[in-house]
Amino acid sequence: MTTKPVLTPRITAKPFLKWAGGKGQLLEKFARLYPAQLASGDISSYHEPFLGSGAVFFNIASSYEFGSAYLYDINDELITAYRVLQKDPATLIEFLYRYQQEYQGLNDKQKAEYYYEQRNNYNLQRFNISYSRYGETWVPRAAQLIFLNKTCYNGLYRVNSKGAFNTPHGDHKNPAICDEYNLLAASKMLEKAVIRKAHFKDIRKDIGAGAFVYLDPPYRPISKTAVFKSYSKFDFTDLDQQKLARRFRDFHEKGALLMLSNSDPTNHNPDDLFFDDLYQGFNITRIDARRLINNIAAKRGVVREIVVRNY
Ligand SMILES: C[S@@+](CC[C@H](N)C(=O)[O-])C[C@H]1O[C@@H](n2cnc3c(N)ncnc32)[C@H](O)[C@@H]1O
Repeated sequence: MTTKPVLTPRITAKPFLKWAGGKGQLLEKFARLYPAQLASGDISSYHEPFLGSGAVFFNIASSYEFGSAYLYDINDELITAYRVLQKDPATLIEFLYRYQQEYQGLNDKQKAEYYYEQRNNYNLQRFNISYSRYGETWVPRAAQLIFLNKTCYNGLYRVNSKGAFNTPHGDHKNPAICDEYNLLAASKMLEKAVIRKAHFKDIRKDIGAGAFVYLDPPYRPISKTAVFKSYSKFDFTDLDQQKLARRFRDFHEKGALLMLSNSDPTNHNPDDLFFDDLYQGFNITRIDARRLINNIAAKRGVVREIVVRNY
């Protein structure tokens, strides 16, 4: 007698935070650009050095099998939240459920007051957290970040030059502060991941043949005065983009499969071939990254993302 194979349903999860530069809208287009080895099961490790909301990681982990995942970002708060979700989703959910109950019971004015109270407390507490060592302050810290992210304006994580979170209150009618199902699914996906605060220059030893690395560094500012400072108090300069390109060549020589994305500078200046020059010799593709929102640049049809691959 033959037995039918049992199909175990795959867990799917989406980002539990909204993050500037999040790639959620590009996933369908990206899927056509992933290496064939993902579908054939020949990727032994997946690496994402500029994790943010992890849109690409959650998408890939929802769709493909691969050995292990290495997730890194320079932002302490982000890494703290990922590690808490990985280690103790049940307690995190309890905290978030409490936030949800309290917030939803308030009128609009009280909601704003509650938000600013939490934001103030979040900024003060940053000096009392040991980010390098998992401790009892981590779960409430992660819950507070998720609460602020779900209720702030546009879900934008933005800090000032001193590192204080300064996004104003948003006007979401019914924000999903505690999306228990997704948090549990995301936690399951993170179970075996290595999650580390790291600068992109410090991940070299993890990468070798059989690795697939997706790199999504901060966008290059359109003008010299428009340096985007949302992610951390540190800028990501042209020099950093150049250093990253050197790492890209290094990882390429180590035998890894690489995909990097950035906003296409030719959107604003047709002569600005910064990335074409930097990644000369690799496979460069431009994809339409127009969003559905009513955006003037989108109407003009000049929102392209540049994607560089070594395969
Ligand atoms: C464009 S965002 C990534 C967005 C992500 N792909 C997503 O879908 O949400 C860039 C990320 O790089 C991180 N970052 C900035 N400088 C870094 C550095 N030197 N090394 C590692 N990560 C860095 C930022 O904290 C930010 O989360």
